[in-house]
Amino acid sequence: MVTMQVAGIREIGAPVEIIEVSEPRPLAPDEVLVEVAAAGVGNWDEFVRTGGWDVGGGRPTALGVEAAGTVLAVGDAVSDWSPGDEVMTHPLPLRDQGTWAPQLIAPAALLARKPANATWEAAAAFPVPALTAEQVIGEALDVHAGEQLLVYGAGGVTGGLLVALGTLRGAQVIATAGQASQQRVSALGAHHVIDYHDRDWPEQVRAITEGRGVPAAVNAVPGYAADAIRVVADNGRLATITSDPPAEERGITVSNVYVRPDGSQLRVLAKQFADGKLAIPIASTYHLADAAAALGETISGHAGGAVILRL
Ligand SMILES: NC(=O)c1ccc[n+]([C@@H]2O[C@H](COP(=O)([O-])OP(=O)(O)OC[C@H]3O[C@@H](n4cnc5c(N)ncnc54)[C@H](OP(=O)(O)O)[C@@H]3O)[C@@H](O)[C@H]2O)c1
Repeated sequence: MVTMQVAGIREIGAPVEIIEVSEPRPLAPDEVLVEVAAAGVGNWDEFVRTGGWDVGGGRPTALGVEAAGTVLAVGDAVSDWSPGDEVMTHPLPLRDQGTWAPQLIAPAALLARKPANATWEAAAAFPVPALTAEQVIGEALDVHAGEQLLVYGAGGVTGGLLVALGTLRGAQVIATAGQASQQRVSALGAHHVIDYHDRDWPEQVRAITEGRGVPAAVNAVPGYAADAIRVVADNGRLATITSDPPAEERGITVSNVYVRPDGSQLRVLAKQFADGKLAIPIASTYHLADAAAALGETISGHAGGAVILRL
């Protein structure tokens, strides 16, 4: 049997290690084989490792739910992609293996072209945060031009994309971020950046909104949706991406958003990246063999940017 070395788990809850798995099987008609150049590492991979998020795939399996690389081969029914194309993807449900592997089988429909101005690292870490942010701003909150939008936790990778996409839709973004992230968050278009360490941050939001509170808010910090709802106006909208939706109150609609794979949406987001409207800050890059350390860094919540595996 021909094998390849991947970074993954032998069973749910097992530690991340290098594992030998079979080389990719022959492609189904709708599939593409990608030579992975880089793969993103998020704290969501810890949910996969511990069984909190079922992403498909077999056992043992490579972890990883996003990647960028070069098309090596295409299935019989694939006409949009050819060997040599540089692509990125959030390929769920996984066909066999996750993305922390030298080669990946992905459904052709879930690929987007890698923007020419994106590094492999940025393209690898883009799909999950960008799709999540678009699905919050464009769908769950359906943010309107001119309205005030609170992004709680704008200093993170997804947080920054929420600010950028809210700004692109014409919202007046009020963001919370730590000192080290404030300049970056302002540059993404936030009108106001409040330090979340200030105990009076809710009063600061109320002052900016002339006492009404914001019509729309998104929480991107685990456990903080209940704080964010306090500054949402009556009959407003709150979305959270950290599985902590508070009970609805004062007519506020609460959405608990989980990222959905969507190739056509990813292709629109890739164009926005190519046009210089979106970006991904990179914190660190690891070799595949150091995947466990990479996951540890992202779980800490203070990486200060995206964590990447280079193949
Ligand atoms: N539901 C989904 O499908 C989905 C998809 C993507 C992400 N997520 C989740 O969303 C969360 C954020 O993702 P991310 O990519 O932005 O993560 P990240 O890049 O790891 O964000 C970490 C940042 O959060 C900020 N932060 C920490 N504590 C804070 C607090 N009390 N108040 C305000 N900001 C705080 C810090 O920013 P400063 O530098 O400003 O201190 C820190 O740098 C993660 O928990 C992730 O799992 C969920």
